[in-house]
Amino acid sequence: MTRAPRDRLIVALDLPSVAAAETVIERLGESVAFYKIGYQLAFAGGLSLAEQLVRAGKRVFLDLKLHDIGNTVTRGVESVVRLGATFLTVHAYPQTMRAAAEARRGSGLRILAVTVLTSYDDRDVAEAGYRGTVRDLIAQRARQAQEIGVDGLVCSPEEAGLLRQIVDPAMLLVTPGVRPAGAALDDQKRVATPRLAIERGADYLVVGRPIVASEDPRAAAEAIVAEIAAATS
Ligand code: C5P
Repeated sequence: MTRAPRDRLIVALDLPSVAAAETVIERLGESVAFYKIGYQLAFAGGLSLAEQLVRAGKRVFLDLKLHDIGNTVTRGVESVVRLGATFLTVHAYPQTMRAAAEARRGSGLRILAVTVLTSYDDRDVAEAGYRGTVRDLIAQRARQAQEIGVDGLVCSPEEAGLLRQIVDPAMLLVTPGVRPAGAALDDQKRVATPRLAIERGADYLVVGRPIVASEDPRAAAEAIVAEIAAATS
């Protein structure tokens, strides 16, 4: 893979306001090239910020986990293409994945599927009406994502090894739950260091609090990029 280490780090802007996000972005400067915007910021002006970031030459991951009837997903994805985002998440339901993969055709947008939310265990999956284990469902949905032509999967570093055995090398694996050695876990339970996540097959690492809540976000980001570089050299 020829991606530069810096381009493989995605900083999650899990912040309550555009002003708070802009402060962090300014402090990070050139050390970060890729930002993730999720529900919290998207519903607080974050979509305008996403456009600004794209205009400033940054890449944007919209973590909106779409799931709706095909036509609605298609129209939504067309708007995200116009916004200029690089990654967009959808839930890994075949109809939703088909609509999203088709609607992004010919654009720079890449669709990432969320197989099973990492907060779900076997009991939650059964409660939601599925047979089998979480791992069964993850594997089934990963295969379907591949057949449908989705570009990537969001997964925990733990799942990355399993998924790498199921999907083609070209399928992007994007992993949150990354913590540099010695960093606080916050509410993450299954974490891996940047090196371990890369070794298990992750293409991109999503890191939030260890950077945005750090006293020195830039130094924190640079340390993670250095660890990615060391793991890939
Ligand atoms: O602050 P932290 O590094 O834990 O942030 C991780 C980011 O990745 C958050 O935006 C979180 O919503 C997201 N995420 C996650 N686990 C998943 C999917 C997404 O932590 N399974």
